[in-house]
Amino acid sequence: MPSETVLVVGATGNVGVSAVIGSLRSGRGVLAVVRNQASADKLFKHVGSKEGITTVEADVASESGVQGVVDQVKAGKLPAFQHVYSTVGMMIMKSPLQDVSTAELRKMMNVAVEGNFFAYRATIPYLIEQGHKSSWTLMTGWAGVTAIGQGALFSMANVACRENTKTNVRFNEVYLNLRVEVDSDAETKGGSVVPSSEFGRHYEELLKREDIEACRISILERADVADLKFRKKLG
Ligand SMILES: NC(=O)c1ccc[n+]([C@@H]2O[C@H](COP(=O)([O-])OP(=O)(O)OC[C@H]3O[C@@H](n4cnc5c(N)ncnc54)[C@H](OP(=O)(O)O)[C@@H]3O)[C@@H](O)[C@H]2O)c1
Repeated sequence: MPSETVLVVGATGNVGVSAVIGSLRSGRGVLAVVRNQASADKLFKHVGSKEGITTVEADVASESGVQGVVDQVKAGKLPAFQHVYSTVGMMIMKSPLQDVSTAELRKMMNVAVEGNFFAYRATIPYLIEQGHKSSWTLMTGWAGVTAIGQGALFSMANVACRENTKTNVRFNEVYLNLRVEVDSDAETKGGSVVPSSEFGRHYEELLKREDIEACRISILERADVADLKFRKKLG
């Protein structure tokens, strides 16, 4: 039985699968938030195993979604967790910007901004209350219309870095400027895309590196996945 568990929000996506793989390789268990059973099956397929993974269904785009997961953890119905990796999002690559509909913009802001914020707001009080050495990792990037929401996440990370310097939670932002896809999709792209299993290494490293705190980890080239480049977000 693993001694620690990582809660992964957005677990079924390209980056989420990486976070699950990295957590498992680090010897930790995973509590994966999934939309439904089909998403859970997709996760098991991409990870290649169910071992060490507990899934829980929740709507991460709603403010009660991850809060409901935390409530079940507190009630002893789900494993306690010490680390969170949040990577909820959706990719809208429409261009130019003026072609983006109001509905698309609002959907992206709801999923990518509110989803990660709701996850943070629900889990940070729990981690602080537990008092363990913990970490909270936020994935960000910079592409397409999705970038509008990422701007808000950069700022959210600034505030969270500052607020957690005096807590037991090591908050970091991982800024990714490579394309990561689940292994079966990456295989079809002829080496231009990083497979999730390879990208999992960054999280395995970050979990080990207790010296990395209140930082942005920038993954700009393939070598950065294993050799983390980081700097304090606030001076
Ligand atoms: N992949 C990259 O190369 C890359 C690069 C830079 C930054 N990023 C950032 O990383 C984040 C994740 O990217 P990704 O490629 O992993 O995305 P993805 O494969 O589309 O996965 C996104 C995750 O969010 C969930 N999700 C999406 N819409 C949802 C909704 N309406 N309700 C509930 N859950 C929803 C998905 O659930 P389902 O599986 O059930 O759909 C999935 O778990 C994004 O913010 C993206 O901007 C990614």
